[in-house]
Amino acid sequence: MKKIELKTVFIEYNSLDELTQDDRGLVLLAKEAADTAYAPYSKFHVGAALKLENGVCIKGSNQENVAYPSGLCAERVAIFSASSQYPGIPVNTIAITAKTDSFKVDSPITPCGSCRQVLAEYERLFKKPIRVILTGETGSVYVIDKIEDLLPLSFKADKLKK
Ligand code: THU
Repeated sequence: MKKIELKTVFIEYNSLDELTQDDRGLVLLAKEAADTAYAPYSKFHVGAALKLENGVCIKGSNQENVAYPSGLCAERVAIFSASSQYPGIPVNTIAITAKTDSFKVDSPITPCGSCRQVLAEYERLFKKPIRVILTGETGSVYVIDKIEDLLPLSFKADKLKK
């Protein structure tokens, strides 16, 4: 028997001011995307912006539905949109943020498990790490080198066959 430890390593910046201009630009696109959320039920507006390897940026926001599970998170709206408009082009970075009228989102939003699973699939497909930038409306910023770091021991295609 042995004990195995899995660690998530990421960088915390004090604010957006500490990011590079490129990364700050992507966060601003994610903030723009949050304004396009359709979130009448949760009132929680999430925005995601992806930068592709060809330089194109794609935005997505959460889209809710009265049949709650039919809605989709901002991250998946963004990556499915990117993959359908630019199939085969790897993703370089994703920025994710959120806002709500009910309170100040004063710490970084962290993606749900389903979004991590979906992002991980594209990371593996392209054999290229997808950097992740997480922010709230205010407060610190987390930067993670790759999706795999956010989803250790994930379910992978190699388990489907022997
Ligand atoms: N949501 C996202 O869009 N991304 C996340 O990472 C977490 C949650 C959405 C789903 C739902 O529309 C609302 O936020 C509240 O859960």
